Amino acid sequence: MTSMKDKLERLEELKAQSELGGGIKRIEAQHAKGKLTARERLDLLLDEGSFLEFDRFVTHRTSEFGLGDRKYLGDGVATGQGRIHGRRVVVFAQDFTVFGGSLSKAHAEKICKIMDLAMKAGCPIIGLNDSGGARIQEGVASLGGYADIFLRNTLASGVVPQISAILGPCAGGAVYSPAITDFVYMVEGISYMFVTGPNVVKTVTHEEVSFDELGGAQVHATKSGVAHFIMDTEVACLEGIRDLFHYIPQNNMEDPPTRVTEDPDDRMDDQLRDIVPEKPNKPYDVHDVISRVMDDGIFHDVHAEYAKNIVVGFAHLGGRSVGIVANQPAGMAGVLDIDSSLKGARFVRFCDAFNIPIVTFEDVPGFLPGVEQEHGGIIKHGAKLLYAYSEATVHKLSVILRKAYGGA
Ligand code: HXC
Repeated sequence: MTSMKDKLERLEELKAQSELGGGIKRIEAQHAKGKLTARERLDLLLDEGSFLEFDRFVTHRTSEFGLGDRKYLGDGVATGQGRIHGRRVVVFAQDFTVFGGSLSKAHAEKICKIMDLAMKAGCPIIGLNDSGGARIQEGVASLGGYADIFLRNTLASGVVPQISAILGPCAGGAVYSPAITDFVYMVEGISYMFVTGPNVVKTVTHEEVSFDELGGAQVHATKSGVAHFIMDTEVACLEGIRDLFHYIPQNNMEDPPTRVTEDPDDRMDDQLRDIVPEKPNKPYDVHDVISRVMDDGIFHDVHAEYAKNIVVGFAHLGGRSVGIVANQPAGMAGVLDIDSSLKGARFVRFCDAFNIPIVTFEDVPGFLPGVEQEHGGIIKHGAKLLYAYSEATVHKLSVILRKAYGGA
């Protein structure tokens, strides 16, 4: 009979093995690409020593499809719970060193398990994505795993905050899980997202485009609006996610956290009189107004590079978390168009779902006239912004900075 000592030694061996993922060579290859491993990322994201891993010895069940005995403990994803600023979160980090982080049935089941836990316990879900997509050898079983994840993303939407970081490839139907979540982070140079890659694009439309031009971080932060945050490095990205937790609650039943501040809530600021020009068409940067009004001048810009004619983001007022929506006269005169309507609407809905009051700074010449906007659906997209505001039951406070014309 095996002694308890032998059992414990074997357990430690297995743990060490699971920490190595796909092995030293693949870890070196990951580092050579300028990328961190799944476990290094979790160390940076979570409070020190707080990660409690689940299912670390799970392996795939697909020997008949050519993977044979190639099994790695954890099957390409580390899942579990941890803490950020002492608050409980559930996390998964895909491990590219194991079959390219591809999603098998077992891998998907691990992710679904922590998502179910998050909904029961009422805590945010963070996904660190770095995956070649569906595990090719598993075929439809893997695709079914994606469906299970999409379902949970949808059920969790508006119930617990969901955050995705794209830290490598994220392609094909796999893109839709992050797309359903509340905030998407991408890192310059290592992240890319597309439904069909450059080769398929070339075959179908004869367009030649690089990975980066098609679905790199810049493109999604500035053009498509898929990415809410673009970061220079993975370290900055993981720190950025931690910072977001100063503003968002654990779930839709709780209030967001408060922040201790020395900034008096009756503070006056005479310089505000000079920032907004008297002439209605003269531009200025609305960030200068926001930072002067909010606690300690701190503003957490969301979607900063996309639809720059509107500014959305988080701050604190009197120590309480607030969502800011502001027309931006420095960008296209602050006009409302399709992209800014979508950006504003999505943010307002997030704040409404998670009990974050909304402060609106208004200085807007109205909706953008033009055939392109009309044909692009400014009516239906503009309606989303009006709908989001009308639907919102959180406190709403509007400050007319200068003008609010027309439909605005
Ligand atoms: C199984 C995979 C894999 C996959 C990569 N690997 N993707 N194994 N299934 N989907 C394995 C590789 O065989 C290799 O194994 C290791 O991961 C690293 O991959 P490399 O190709 O060496 O890395 P790199 O050069 O960085 O290229 C990364 C990549 C490429 C661009 C992601 O691997 C790739 O194109 N993979 C296939 C992508 C794909 O077609 N996925 C299915 C998409 S459809 P070894 O043993 O050599 O280390 C989809 C549908 C979702 O996802 C639908 C939801 C509804």
